[in-house]
Amino acid sequence: MVKAVVLGAAGGIGQPLSLLLKANPLITELGLFDIVNTPGVAADLSHISTPAKVVGYLPPDDGLKKVLTNADVIVIPAGVPRKPGMTRDDLFKINAGIVRDLATGIATAAPKAFVLVISNPVNSTVPIVAEVLKKHGVFDPKRLFGVTTLDVVRASTFVAEILGDLSLSKSVAVPVVGGHSGVTIVPLLSQSSHPLPANLTTDQYEALVKRIQFGGDEVVKAKDGAGSATLSMAYAGAEFAAKLIRAIGGEKGVSAPTFVNLSADPSGGEALKKELGQDLDYFSTVVELGPEGVAKINTLGSLTDAETALVKAAIPELATNIQTGVSFIASPK
Ligand code: NAI
Repeated sequence: MVKAVVLGAAGGIGQPLSLLLKANPLITELGLFDIVNTPGVAADLSHISTPAKVVGYLPPDDGLKKVLTNADVIVIPAGVPRKPGMTRDDLFKINAGIVRDLATGIATAAPKAFVLVISNPVNSTVPIVAEVLKKHGVFDPKRLFGVTTLDVVRASTFVAEILGDLSLSKSVAVPVVGGHSGVTIVPLLSQSSHPLPANLTTDQYEALVKRIQFGGDEVVKAKDGAGSATLSMAYAGAEFAAKLIRAIGGEKGVSAPTFVNLSADPSGGEALKKELGQDLDYFSTVVELGPEGVAKINTLGSLTDAETALVKAAIPELATNIQTGVSFIASPK
């Protein structure tokens, strides 16, 4: 019995994500919450012949509390998306408050749930959720995840394209580490399950790294003011949620890159911090998942010089993003 909840369920990501979760046979209840349209989305999805019972709530009459009650897995795609020319950090002003308020609801109505944050900027919104949960004395770092899966999905697709065989994209696995914005997105292409062509030039390698880091911009530009990635994000979010649900259900050997608080690791993430040469509280890397959520946070392993340089370049921006999120709750302006 798994109750999944989507906060921001009527949006560009929220609707297709809710559809994909409704299609997941492991989910027995699906709760949808948004400030608009959830009764309609819920009625529509409820006619699909899969096990999940679907219910939609709006803010009046304690809707947030009702949707969160008994939630096992909560996915948050609530907030505004980017328009051309905007970075993910430009979204902070609006999304930080939305995420804070939803996290406050979680802290009181579903303090033991697994929380998956999609709302951008992820590098800052995940610390916001953590700080709110800490304030309420219910923070369990093993249960909080920033969803960086879209970067992983893009890396798989772009590598398969370079290999000239898109049918490989489902099996190509590339660890993407760091964070989820621009230079903080670090693909470890040397660890790809499918090696890159030996004759790939440095220019081609650099273009591939850049495309993985800034792939979101391609979508923002093509949508021309109508938003950012929604369908690919819904796919990625549903994939990550499905992995987590399998792991909390007892399946062994499930792992995925995700942005986590390093204190979730049994050894406090010390080995990773040592590798990074920096005492960061959050980082995205391959995480082994288990019944409690985070079971182990993996180190980066062996890197090429180019990858070491990318990790180094990511750290200052990541540290600033994390601090921005922490300060928003600790000392709000
Ligand atoms: P959207 O504008 O289409 O949908 C957002 C939804 O959130 C709307 O339905 C809105 O009514 C709802 N919402 C706003 N305030 C709310 C509140 N207080 N409580 C509940 N719902 C609320 O935006 P879209 O395209 O779905 O993007 C959502 C977020 O996801 C953005 O922040 C975007 O930047 C982020 N995103 C994250 C990605 C990732 O890889 N982690 C990738 C793509 C987008």
